[in-house]
Amino acid sequence: MSRNAETARALAETVRARAGAAPVALGLVLGSGLGSLAGEVDGVRIPYADLPGFPGSGVSGHAAELTVGTLEGVRVAVFGGREHYYEHGRADAMRLPLEVLRALGADRLILTNAAGSLTPFNPPGSLMLLSDHINFSGLNPLIGEPTDARFVPMTAAHDAAIRAALRRAAAAEDVTLPEGVYAWYSGPSFETPAEIRAIRTLGADAVGMSTVPEVILARFLGLDVAAVSVITNMAAGMSDEAISHDHTKAMAPLGAAKLARILRRYLRDLNTAGAG
Ligand code: HPA
Repeated sequence: MSRNAETARALAETVRARAGAAPVALGLVLGSGLGSLAGEVDGVRIPYADLPGFPGSGVSGHAAELTVGTLEGVRVAVFGGREHYYEHGRADAMRLPLEVLRALGADRLILTNAAGSLTPFNPPGSLMLLSDHINFSGLNPLIGEPTDARFVPMTAAHDAAIRAALRRAAAAEDVTLPEGVYAWYSGPSFETPAEIRAIRTLGADAVGMSTVPEVILARFLGLDVAAVSVITNMAAGMSDEAISHDHTKAMAPLGAAKLARILRRYLRDLNTAGAG
């Protein structure tokens, strides 16, 4: 077993000792300003500080804790915050947390993020389900992975079955959930208008500073994965509104309430289907 996997198994044991041994079905990573869902989980909160190798409390708008418990009858592990590449220059910063998720028994992962929109059809406050992504950063969390497992196919990275279930949940909740392509920009500075025009020309519908490395890691680890963006602003040069992290945090709760309804409905349906 690799050292990574050994560390993950030991941390999973720590989590089980505190939160109970029942296997986790699904992981959820909450993006900037989207943390309120963690509070709805009936379970145990574990500060990342108690889990060596987990992210520090680096970005305002993110809670540095893991919540393990039940939501809508499904055993979940909710990551209240993520580490971004721009914090310490580590594209694989979320590898250990996702390995721990796998070691807890999960086989699926839903990622959420705050993002800028490149299309007027997706205004601030709306949601976008990722159909695919563009790695505009040139970085990769698997650089340095020595095994052939690093050659991960990304042809159908965003899981079709989870996406279909999320679309059904959105329809049942009367929430519009269009699909689109997300581009990963490293940050932490926002994009220039010229970069946004370039990204749009390449086929992106939204842009953000996270999620893509986690999708790559999830596929590497054998987790089925889907991701949803909460649109907090029109991307640079597309509106007169100033872009800032404060604005992102202020706008995220608008979409977060809708996203929470979709996720709860998705979990309820999963539970009813007996897959939870
Ligand atoms: N660009 C990158 N990341 C973001 C944005 C944006 O416009 N909005 C929220 N996160």
